Amino acid sequence: MLKVDWRNYQRVILPDVPNLHQIEVYERHRGYEKLREVLTSGEWTPKKMVDTIKAANIRGRGGAGFNAGLKWSFMPPKKPGVPRYLACNGDESEPGTIKDRRIFEFNPHLFIEGVVIACYAMEMDAAYVYIRGEYVDYIRMLQKAVDEAYAKGYLGKNILGSGFSLDVHLHRGAGAYICGEETSLMESLEGKRAYPRSKPPFPAQYGLWGKPTTINNIETLACVPLVLRHGVEWFTSTGAPDHPGPILYGISGHVNRPGVYEYPTGMAITDLIYEVAGGMRGGKRLKAVVPGGASVPILRAQDVEGVTMNGASLIRAGVPDSNPNPIPGRDGSMLGTAGMLVLDEDTDMVKFIYRTARFYDHESCGQCTPCREGTGWVRRLLERFVKHEAGPRDLDLLLDICDNMEGRTVCALADATAWPVRAAIHRFRDEFEARVKLKAVPVYA
Ligand SMILES: Cc1cc2nc3c(=O)[nH]c(=O)nc-3n(C[C@H](O)[C@H](O)[C@H](O)COP(=O)(O)O)c2cc1C
Ligand code: SF4
Repeated sequence: MLKVDWRNYQRVILPDVPNLHQIEVYERHRGYEKLREVLTSGEWTPKKMVDTIKAANIRGRGGAGFNAGLKWSFMPPKKPGVPRYLACNGDESEPGTIKDRRIFEFNPHLFIEGVVIACYAMEMDAAYVYIRGEYVDYIRMLQKAVDEAYAKGYLGKNILGSGFSLDVHLHRGAGAYICGEETSLMESLEGKRAYPRSKPPFPAQYGLWGKPTTINNIETLACVPLVLRHGVEWFTSTGAPDHPGPILYGISGHVNRPGVYEYPTGMAITDLIYEVAGGMRGGKRLKAVVPGGASVPILRAQDVEGVTMNGASLIRAGVPDSNPNPIPGRDGSMLGTAGMLVLDEDTDMVKFIYRTARFYDHESCGQCTPCREGTGWVRRLLERFVKHEAGPRDLDLLLDICDNMEGRTVCALADATAWPVRAAIHRFRDEFEARVKLKAVPVYA
């Protein structure tokens, strides 16, 4: 099992520095130091910056885990007169995901510094920060930090006399989960109904207003200045080799101390629950864990023994050795947003998964038939189990619907509905079977 020295870890995304949200305090703690070096030393070409971030292997913290620098490298060569944009994803609507708000609150300038460096690397003209509408206070906090950065010359025209200019605009969402999907986020920013776009073309070719665009999560961008400050080697050797760096774990559910905790990736799930989050509430036994936000497959207590919070470990969680090639989403689980839901022995799994499915049914944008219809069927079928009214064929029907949703739609919301349901049936089948009203009667010849 991967061993991470988390007990001696010094926080860097949310360090223990009072008033770090104030620009003067941030500057006193190496804030904007690397941005100044990047823009004024003449040592950093945009290509060198992209290569550095690629080497650091910051895997996207918004859920999909894609190497940020590699994504940046997909931007086409700059053409005169064609604007390019960065879209920063602060929609944070995945149930169990509560981390980006902490960056807005405690270290907004780290994120802003990351935005300017990213835009310099990709030769962009403006950045749009899309934040969920319910985050009224956090939007205010970030706007204050943006205003401070303008006043000090870190944003706006001719930043630090370097000739590079950048504007940052904040945009409030209106409470739809689908707006966090990167292409519907762009539609929403353009003022349209947030229907996800079919890919290709990818955002680097056809993004905001049809111009080359990159979308990154808030925490992903906050990691960028840290790579420059502490070095690529520090980043890649922190936490799990396949998914390195510091990460914000959101731990919620039946633990004594729910919250957002910064540690290296690759921590043991049991350490997070029993050491970091203070153990199970009321001394109850652990029943299940959803490790990365509501859309990743659920695991039983016995599946998480020896499992660490990184993709390579999670995909094998609860998978028998006889299966050498687990399929993401169908077997094991995933890191997702590292928003961990912890459930105790009293949890009714049927009700839990029904509640999750209701969310996805409500949030489906309705554009694709398998998702629009499938999420509704899944919800209605699960409701039958909750009410003890399910028929003997309903479990197979549920799995069949999941099969017909996965991988057949414009965006991943349909998969996000099917994966948890399939995993719950697979891992807690007895609880579903106990709700079947009419048991099949064996027929003897
Ligand atoms: C339905 C749906 C909702 C999503 N919501 C969010 C979100 O709230 N925040 C986020 O950063 N990514 C979200 N994502 C993932 C984004 O599409 C995208 O992968 C991410 O913003 C890219 O940034 P990253 O590479 O830095 O992680 C969502 C994806 C889907 C399919
Ligand atoms: S999968 Fe669902 S949410 Fe995504 S585009 Fe299709 S209907 Fe909309």
